[in-house]
Amino acid sequence: MAEIKHTPVMLAEVIEALSPKDGEIYVDGTFGGGGYAKAILEAADCKVYAIDRDPEAISRGRVLEKEFEGRLKLLPGCFSEMDVLLEGQGEDKVDGIALDIGVSSHQLEDPERGFSFIKEGPLDMRMSRQGVSAADVVNTFEEKALADIFYRYGEEHASRRIARAITRARAEKPIETTTDLAKIIVSAVGAKKARGASRIHPATKVFQALRIYVNRELEELRLGLQAAVSLLRDGGRLCVVSFHSLEDRLVKKFFNENSGNIPQGSRHSPPDATPGKWRGPTLILKRRKVLKPGKEEIATNPRARSARLRTAIRTAEKSIPATVSPERP
Ligand SMILES: C[S@@+](CC[C@H](N)C(=O)[O-])C[C@H]1O[C@@H](n2cnc3c(N)ncnc32)[C@H](O)[C@@H]1O
Repeated sequence: MAEIKHTPVMLAEVIEALSPKDGEIYVDGTFGGGGYAKAILEAADCKVYAIDRDPEAISRGRVLEKEFEGRLKLLPGCFSEMDVLLEGQGEDKVDGIALDIGVSSHQLEDPERGFSFIKEGPLDMRMSRQGVSAADVVNTFEEKALADIFYRYGEEHASRRIARAITRARAEKPIETTTDLAKIIVSAVGAKKARGASRIHPATKVFQALRIYVNRELEELRLGLQAAVSLLRDGGRLCVVSFHSLEDRLVKKFFNENSGNIPQGSRHSPPDATPGKWRGPTLILKRRKVLKPGKEEIATNPRARSARLRTAIRTAEKSIPATVSPERP
């Protein structure tokens, strides 16, 4: 297979927002192909701790770690645990954090990882190569649970029809490959929709939903944002690039809540003043509106077209300890 390369998305905007400075410490929570980490290290004489849950991303990154010996440290694990991972390195505060949510081209384009319905491969989708795979989900979950996943994480309106087609198909034989699943989806939604007005492939939303579920992506994001706020020093910069509306909504809500940019309570529902609930803003938004990639970037890297960047600056306000909110159906 030809060597896969990941082109970093909105790199110039992320570096501008992080504005790396000599002697500072940064966290790249989604190392991937190392595009952000390398650019941060080149922008200033600083140190980067780079996290990735994918063991293959970490092993590929060892070359870069050697190139920036003493300045780049790769940390296998999840960014939801960045505060704990950094504590293990003797760091309790950092100057900037970047999160580039989602999958890398290495993951998406390698059929063996099972993220894409374009090429045949095992139905896997596990970034960390551990835990429940997409094949486990489609072959063992009840019809209703499947429909809920497709609707909730894929916003798929034909979720029930697709779930029914899956349970019927698997009664004949297990669904093992990406293309097997894609064919079942196409047959469930009908050739008309498959050909139809919408330019997206009919399997797109179900594959997105399975990927989000298998990797607990929204829960990771929620916890990652909380961990980032607790790890950033006063004046530290936070940059989050997301790729679909479910993620961006979550980031927007988190940024608005943490910057005090939330609707004030009414006479019947006053703002929550419970001690420990709301102190003061922990973030200042550099700009209220989300930043999108420019036309030129989209022309050269079509994967960038749905990217959305939000940035904020940490205040001196104490953070509220992270809580885990159940997210699975
Ligand atoms: C879009 S890519 C990042 C690309 C990177 N910014 C670059 O320029 O090469 C996302 C990467 O984040 C990793 N990832 C996704 N969710 C993660 C999580 N919760 N914890 C740690 N790594 C995660 C994926 O394995 C993938 O390698």
